[in-house]
Amino acid sequence: MAMALETPGLLSLAAGFTDNKTLPVGEVRTAVEELAQQPGEPEYLQYGTNRGRPGLRRLLAERLAALEPGLAVEALDAGMMVTNGSQQALYLAMQVLCDPGDIVLVDRPSYFVFLEMLTGLGVQARSLPLDGDGRIDGEALRRLLADMEARGETKRLKAVYFVSYFSNPSARSLAEVEKTVLAEVLAERGLTIPVLEDAAYRDLYYRQPYAARSVLTLPAWQAFPKLYLATLTKSFATGLKVGYGFCSDRAWLDKMLHVKGHHDFGTANFNQAVFERVIGDGGFEAQLARIRPAYEAKMRSLHGTLEAEGLPALGWRWAEPTGGLYLWLEAPRALDTGMNSEFCHACVREGVLYVPGDLCFGDDAPRHFARLSFGVLGGDELIQAARRFVTVARRFA
Ligand SMILES: Cc1ncc(COP(=O)(O)O)c(C=O)c1O
Repeated sequence: MAMALETPGLLSLAAGFTDNKTLPVGEVRTAVEELAQQPGEPEYLQYGTNRGRPGLRRLLAERLAALEPGLAVEALDAGMMVTNGSQQALYLAMQVLCDPGDIVLVDRPSYFVFLEMLTGLGVQARSLPLDGDGRIDGEALRRLLADMEARGETKRLKAVYFVSYFSNPSARSLAEVEKTVLAEVLAERGLTIPVLEDAAYRDLYYRQPYAARSVLTLPAWQAFPKLYLATLTKSFATGLKVGYGFCSDRAWLDKMLHVKGHHDFGTANFNQAVFERVIGDGGFEAQLARIRPAYEAKMRSLHGTLEAEGLPALGWRWAEPTGGLYLWLEAPRALDTGMNSEFCHACVREGVLYVPGDLCFGDDAPRHFARLSFGVLGGDELIQAARRFVTVARRFA
């Protein structure tokens, strides 16, 4: 990100930022004006509480209850914490669950900032095995867990983490059956370990929501301690940096809140007050209705340019996403697109940045994947960036 900001002319398909052109200036202005005009004391400029603004928690609980029928708003509210982005909730969860040397199961590929965090905490990531269609493979998982048990590792297995809707980086969503198989295989081995479902992009579908329940309502996960994470950044304004987690396990939640007290004793109250307004008055949904087609159009522009410039004929493959901010490209196996590869340097020289795919694997990382984001760039710049990328790919074909 720093390189993109500091190098004039470099076009970044790397950063997972959102589009400045569609940020909700109008909604935020209205919310701030209304806050400033409201009678009484300006409590929104005062410290808030560690767990988050009660009004916002309630609204978030109501939104979640609408997505996951059968869950009571009161119960969701009671397990809700509002965090400084969902990134903070991820960190709190790992900090209280894991010691150095512990192991966390992760999806394959996975969110690379989470993987980096694990490394920073001295925690090992172990990838969930996939079948030939890229779906979670229950049989292979059975074998992996049996091997781990034989090596005495399962007692160090502390959690399982996955990004389940329009994932970063793969844009893939996890089907209910995959999540269920995962829970069943873990339960079979007596491993009802904490599960973290990261739903950061659930709201960012283009045409229709991805129809899968989360771990909160899938019956197979009932006995597991659950943390469901979501964010208001990607779906509204990244700069407001408000996310949240719903935790089904009181003791786990209390520990996270205890550490949160040490971090900040509360997420920015003013930002939460803005969200309370925009969710309450429909501005949040209006913004989503604006950005869904906008990101779909940008996805099509990037996807279409890569196709038109001939990337598939060079042996590259990817699936067209139905939500989210990323294209996940598989290069021909022999082509190294990894960090510090010749390809990577050639892209920088050509004036385009991408995320080397090897960063997105917890272990056994292949070096022929690339994540392209269409969050930031648009119009001619996005097309130009795609052309530069294909120019380099052609040179390496
Ligand atoms: C999968 C995933 N989870 C969590 C986050 C953290 O988002 P935030 O801290 O802005 O809520 C991101 C941001 O890119 C993400 O891609």
